[in-house]
Amino acid sequence: MLKLEQISKQYDNKVVLDNISLEINKGEIVSLLGQSGSGKTTLLNIILGLTKMDKGRIIFDNENLTNVKMKDRGFNIVFQDYALFPHLNAYDNIVYGLKNKRGLVTEEELKEYINFLELKPHLNKKISELSGGQKQRVALARTLVMKPKLLLLDEPLSALDGVIKESIKERIKSIAKEFQLTTIIVTHDPEEALTLSDKILIINQGSISQFGTPHEIIHQPKNEFVKGFILKQLQIKRQNIFHLFGEQYA
Ligand SMILES: Nc1ncnc2c1ncn2[C@@H]1O[C@H](COP(=O)(O)OP(=O)(O)OP(=O)(O)O)[C@@H](O)[C@H]1O
Ligand SMILES: [Mg+2]
Repeated sequence: MLKLEQISKQYDNKVVLDNISLEINKGEIVSLLGQSGSGKTTLLNIILGLTKMDKGRIIFDNENLTNVKMKDRGFNIVFQDYALFPHLNAYDNIVYGLKNKRGLVTEEELKEYINFLELKPHLNKKISELSGGQKQRVALARTLVMKPKLLLLDEPLSALDGVIKESIKERIKSIAKEFQLTTIIVTHDPEEALTLSDKILIINQGSISQFGTPHEIIHQPKNEFVKGFILKQLQIKRQNIFHLFGEQYA
């Protein structure tokens, strides 16, 4: 279980995160949902250990990680721009992080990840020869082979559209469930958050507006921000989600 306790962060005397506390169970997918500048990436980077918080604690499986360095936390992130190495082919990108960690995965496991993400036909291709969805899958594979204890994804779907977006979404879901991998995903798209996650953390200007299941967010919005910003956007897209939540929201 991941526990965030009263995390706060300021940049130049401006509060960016204010007293964020929440608990995430093993294998759960949680979306961080909020407008641009609300503090989503900052929170993700604090969990990863890339950014230092001013106040608060991070506990993972009963271990206090607050002062533990990024490389010793055992978490891993997929950045929005994938950050793949253009001079290496898909396969070499996937195994890059294993260079100094031989034995972390067996050949068998490596094959399993590659097959699971349907990357076998693309292993010898250059990064420039891959589509957006294929690059995203290579970035996911590269992260998964490191066997992270926590998977962090910063807007993994925003560069994708339509069918490809749906297929990556389904894959993220099955990875979390099959490997019981706790996953935190940043998004600014309410529809994406509602259809992808077990729970959603709605952030407004650095504070928690609501933390709950998609059902709770839809049926019991806690305040005007959730009602206004989130539900208004959803009404625009309601055709796409009404089948999930019943006729009355169509
Ligand atoms: N290194 C930094 N130095 C100073 N201010 C920063 C720094 N990083 C972020 N900020 C500020 O903190 C606030 C939150 O930024 P953050 O990147 O966490 O937002 P976000 O929710 O991820 O936004 P977006 O959806 O646009 O990616 C913003 O006002 C931003 O300008
Ligand atoms: Mg961001």
